[in-house]
Amino acid sequence: MKIFEWRDGAIRILDQTRLPDDEKVIVCDDLDKICEAIQSLRIRGAPALGVTAAYAVLMGSASIKHSSRTEFLQELDLVASRIKATRPTAVNLFWAVDQMLAAARGVHGDVDSIRKSIAQTADTIKSDNASRHKALSQLGAELIPEGSGVIHHCNTGALATIDYGSALGVLHAAHQAGKNIHVYVNETRPLLQGGRLTTWELNRWDVPHTLITDSAAGHLMQSGEIGAVVVGADRIAANGDTANKIGTYTNAVLASYHNIPFYVAAPLTTVDFDIKDGTEICIEERTPSEVLGFGHNRWAPDSVKVRNPAFDLTPESIITGIITEAGIAESPYLNSLRELHESARKIPSNV
Ligand code: MRU
Repeated sequence: MKIFEWRDGAIRILDQTRLPDDEKVIVCDDLDKICEAIQSLRIRGAPALGVTAAYAVLMGSASIKHSSRTEFLQELDLVASRIKATRPTAVNLFWAVDQMLAAARGVHGDVDSIRKSIAQTADTIKSDNASRHKALSQLGAELIPEGSGVIHHCNTGALATIDYGSALGVLHAAHQAGKNIHVYVNETRPLLQGGRLTTWELNRWDVPHTLITDSAAGHLMQSGEIGAVVVGADRIAANGDTANKIGTYTNAVLASYHNIPFYVAAPLTTVDFDIKDGTEICIEERTPSEVLGFGHNRWAPDSVKVRNPAFDLTPESIITGIITEAGIAESPYLNSLRELHESARKIPSNV
């Protein structure tokens, strides 16, 4: 079953809000539908949002009727702004939309040639995304200690990246390489990406795993059963500060206290070199209803005050390494991330 497919001018996605019970593919054939799907997390995870955003630009461009280059580009800007307004934290979404706009502006011919160029760019972003995740999964697998328990937060598998996975890709690759590992899956309140999605993927991949409540992670680290913590990222600042699913910071502090290596696995498209540290990252705040209950179950009084930050910030000082497709970045990240970025740019690709 395909997690994401671009076919006949429409984006088809496996609706992640229905997993694990219902494996339903939905068809988004206009901008409203795909923006709704992103906002309600039917498709989610930073790299998956990047690929989706690229094709959303392409889909939005199909309804632009102008045949003049200038007017076409003006309308395309409006499409881009609409997509960028869906979710603020994952930089991959912004990166992909900007790649599409740059591809469009780079064509000085007629509108048909612009259309061709952006279609090619979306395809390249998608195939490039697959190679980045394959490479980082294999590199990261070497860091996972043999015979260890590994804590994973949120969902970072193929569902979140479309191909392979980032942190979960690393754990899958370690398992495939014959390492005897056991994944402890944080359930990841409030939307249970760990409990619903990560368990679904690890089960399909046959990787040994156990589901735990978010609050059990510290206890397991204290008991000596955990050899590493591996998470993904939504945006990494130039200095290595990392925004990821709410609760990541708590796991990083606990890992640091217990001297357990804490790794972030992410493609270089998740690094935002335009911001110097994490204080500049916008943390999405979501609706209180996600905290008041789940689905049709409500367990808190409707009148209660709620805060629902969807992400948090882990300072670079407590990150052991950042696993990318071009190598493992180590502190000081300001230098190592930049060097990896420069070395990866030497690999031919048009994005
Ligand atoms: O709100 P979500 O489910 O989109 O959040 C996803 C995460 O926080 C992931 O850990 C992150 O995007 C990395 S996915 C490889």
